This record gives sequence, structure tokens and C-alpha cells, in this order.
Amino acid sequence: MTDGVSSSAGGTTHVVAIDGPAGTGKSSVSKLLAAKVGASYLDTGAMYRAVTLAVLDAGVALDDPAGIARVAAGVDIALVPDGDGAKVFLDGRDVSGPIRTEHVTSAVSAVSAVPEVRTKLVALQQQNAQGRFVVVEGRDIGTVVFPEADVKIFLTATPEARAERRHKQNLAGGRDSDYEAVLASVNRRDHLDSTRKVSPLRAADDATLVDTSDKTLDEVLDELSGLVETRIGAVER
Ligand code: DC
Repeated sequence: MTDGVSSSAGGTTHVVAIDGPAGTGKSSVSKLLAAKVGASYLDTGAMYRAVTLAVLDAGVALDDPAGIARVAAGVDIALVPDGDGAKVFLDGRDVSGPIRTEHVTSAVSAVSAVPEVRTKLVALQQQNAQGRFVVVEGRDIGTVVFPEADVKIFLTATPEARAERRHKQNLAGGRDSDYEAVLASVNRRDHLDSTRKVSPLRAADDATLVDTSDKTLDEVLDELSGLVETRIGAVER
């Protein structure tokens, strides 16, 4: 049991931080976990993707951090709950589909490495959680955004297991996919995300590491909901 992160918005803020690289099953399990424990779900990667889409739409080069910062300063990003997930709005436009394209995926590491982008989105994420019980998914949630989160989980899996999952998702979604190319992309993104200067991807010292390589989604969900119940218990939500 914990008092949670203090809040000025009336209710107590309770945060479950879920970090880790792409392909660990983070999104699937975070959504299911939120539904299972009665929390809201906040997908911070979707916010970085929305800013990236705005940067690409504006024709700003990915090696122009000042241009990227300018675009980020001028955009309005909102996440609206929708079923188990959320819809993402960029300046009032629903961009939930476009932010998942390969075009955005391959540009997002460059955009999310710009400090001004991170400052703006971290503040938005903190605001979003005020006075609520939330499962927050990202890369720096337990380290930077909510260092006092009630529960911190860092999901890991071998690059091969993660590439295999992505590859299968692509095929199931009717998209062309080459396993070796997916594996190379996983390794490239890992490298960019873990070596950037601002908020590199790393587990918080007090995070619980969960390796999902040989686990089913249900097994991971049970493990995580067990942790939430133990740490937060029957809090007033
Ligand atoms: O989880 P995702 O694949 O949708 O995230 C997209 C990108 O955004 C990913 O390459 C890393 C970045 N990201 C980040 O830097 N910090 C976060 N809290 C969430 C995502």
C-alpha cells in the first residue's frame, strides 16, 4: 500500500509506469492491465508519434532540431479514451491511423530526441495523470515522468523475440514483412533510443524487470496485475 504521487487536483494520483523497448508486448499488456485494474491508459509513444507526423507534414527535416522544436511548440495534442485504447488528435484531427505508418515509425526516434519536444510532452503526460489512477506506457515513465510512480515495470525481451512478434503482426495485418529487415529495424531503434542524450531508454533502479520472451500475454498480464494489487491494493479510485 502506498499514498501514491501527491496531487493538487483533488483525488490522489496513482501511477503504474510501464517502460521498455518496442516489441515487448508493452502496448497490448498495458491496455489490458488498465482495463483489469480499473485504471485509465496513457500511451505516451502516441504523443511522440503525433508530433512526428506534424513535423513530417510541415516538411521540416529530421536533422533540424530547431525546426522540430518550433513545430512541437505550435501543436495541440489530445488523447481521447476509446474502448480499451485511445484516439489521438493532432490540432483537432484524428490521427490514430496515420501515426502508426512506417513513415512515422522510422522518423520518431529523431523527433523524440529533441529536448523541447520531450519537455512539452512530459508536462502534458503529468497533467493527464493528475488526480487519476493511470497505467502509463513509454520509455522514461519510471525514470523521468513519474519518478515516484506507485509501480514501475520494465519489460524486456530478446531482440529476436521482439522482431518475431513485429514480423507476425505485419503479416497478420496483411503488410509485407521480412524478418531480417524487422530485426535490423528493432536493433536500430534500440540503439537510437538508448543512446540519446535526453532521457535514454533505461530501467529505473527500483523497477521490476519482466522478461516477456517466453511468456504469453495472459501470463504477463497476471504477473503485472499481481504487482499492482500488491503495491496499490484496494485504493480508493
Ligand atoms: O511505443 P512507441 O513505439 O509507439 O513509441 C514511439 C517512439 O517514441 C519510440 O521510438 C520511442 C519514443 N518514445 C519516447 O521517446 N518516450 C516515450 N515516453 C514514449 C515513446
